[in-house]
Amino acid sequence: MTDTTTPLAGSVPLAPRAWPLLGHALPLLRDPLAFIMSLSGYREMVRLRLGPSSAVMICDPDLTRQVFLNDRTFDKGGPIYDRIREVIGDGLSTCAYPLHRRQRRLCQPSFHPARLAGYGAVFARAAEAKAASWQDGDVLDVTQEMMTLTTRATMETMFSGALPAETMRRSLADTAVIVSAFFRRMMTPALLRRLPTPQKRRYDAARTRLAATIAEIIAERRADPTDHADLLSTLVAAVDEESEEGKRQLTDAELADEALTFFLGGMETTAITLAWAMHLLATDPDVQHRLKAETDQVLAGGRLDPAHLPSLGLASRVVTETLRLYPPAWMMTRVVREDAELGGVRFKGGSTIVLSPYLLHRRPDLYTDPDRFDPDRWLDGQPDRATYIPFGAGARKCIGDQFALSEAILALTAIVDRWDLSPVGDQPFRPKVETSLSSRGLRLRLTARRRDAGDDGARTDVAQPLSAVEPPTRPGAACPVKHGE
Ligand code: HEM
Repeated sequence: MTDTTTPLAGSVPLAPRAWPLLGHALPLLRDPLAFIMSLSGYREMVRLRLGPSSAVMICDPDLTRQVFLNDRTFDKGGPIYDRIREVIGDGLSTCAYPLHRRQRRLCQPSFHPARLAGYGAVFARAAEAKAASWQDGDVLDVTQEMMTLTTRATMETMFSGALPAETMRRSLADTAVIVSAFFRRMMTPALLRRLPTPQKRRYDAARTRLAATIAEIIAERRADPTDHADLLSTLVAAVDEESEEGKRQLTDAELADEALTFFLGGMETTAITLAWAMHLLATDPDVQHRLKAETDQVLAGGRLDPAHLPSLGLASRVVTETLRLYPPAWMMTRVVREDAELGGVRFKGGSTIVLSPYLLHRRPDLYTDPDRFDPDRWLDGQPDRATYIPFGAGARKCIGDQFALSEAILALTAIVDRWDLSPVGDQPFRPKVETSLSSRGLRLRLTARRRDAGDDGARTDVAQPLSAVEPPTRPGAACPVKHGE
């Protein structure tokens, strides 16, 4: 699926429905999820063709894990990352193996548990403010609302600032254009990608504007280098000890790549996770009711606080289950750097490998009733590291996983505490498949929660203690469901 022909990969069966010349481009563009799931019968791996290029899709959890863990051989690359690199250059999420460890070390302090504890208060206040901004009877553009929420939280925690309203609105629109273009551009041959179509012009303009906004943020920070205890300060102060020119600070271009990485990575994924969680709750009144009971019990009339996180067991399981059903990074690609063996098959250097959390998360031999929303499937234990991979694994595992989980759990709690969520219309809502599993276009109706009389407006419409509603969660845990390695 790269522009050059991918070298052959041993005796891997070719997926059915390959068209002459086009290969699997049509089913992948028409209904990517149905096509991917049609491959779940292949136990280990299957070959895909896109025009003259081919790629091997890994269907087995243990082989997927081997790819993740051996990131020197199975490096970031392939069609998804080649397209994302057009926008964020060699930032942490796209850089190749030789650059990765140093960049990860530079960014890691911003995700230290002590820092995360401080971010929690920002998440809680931002979520309460967002939930308070809606009116009874509103029909929400859920994804748009969640994007503004997560952008605000990312800006405050990573960049210690807020964007002026107009810049925020424009940056969100630009982000939407860029993110939705990635997948289409990945499927389009190089020659066609360069044609000056209206879509390409919109994409280029959005990239230029977003880059200019990030450049402004960096210039402001260079002019005021006091330590803001955020990601940007860490990066501005960072000294590259291993540079060929000797010790040096990051250039503006390198800073821009990192800042864009966190701007795009931090907001869209968490926003769509929240949107899908709200959708699932709207279509499952029973779980929604139980979640309100948990919220009432835990908040007990007080304000939402990050210290509540260990007690929000059901909210945590709802987020875990949402990420199983709708993993934003539904598909990832890797490039094989040098000849290697995987699952008894020899891969030549330059081969493209495709990994799919969506496929693993919905395989009936790995999950009972896999298409059903069932947060209680996580009651008995932690997610399995091989079969549950919404954040990837190994050295390239998401650096923002705990950040995103706390943000999502707190936001969901703030929202259900105030609002009853219900679907608009009776048509099932389907994901827009892009580089992420987008919830764009999702609308939900809000009704102000009715609380029982006699509780002076406090949140106590359940009589039972929480222990009767939900089993207790491990005390002291920042997030009741752990997604760590
Ligand atoms: C629910 C929300 C999120 C999901 C599902 C998610 C998913 C992922 C996945 C699957 C990867 C690995 C990609 C691969 O191996 O090809 C990844 C990497 C990454 N994520 Fe996230 N992410 C989320 C939130 C965040 C947040 C909030 C941030 C930053 C504030 C972030 C920043 C990054 C970065 C920088 C990487 C690259 C890490 C590296 O290569 O060392 N993500 N994410």
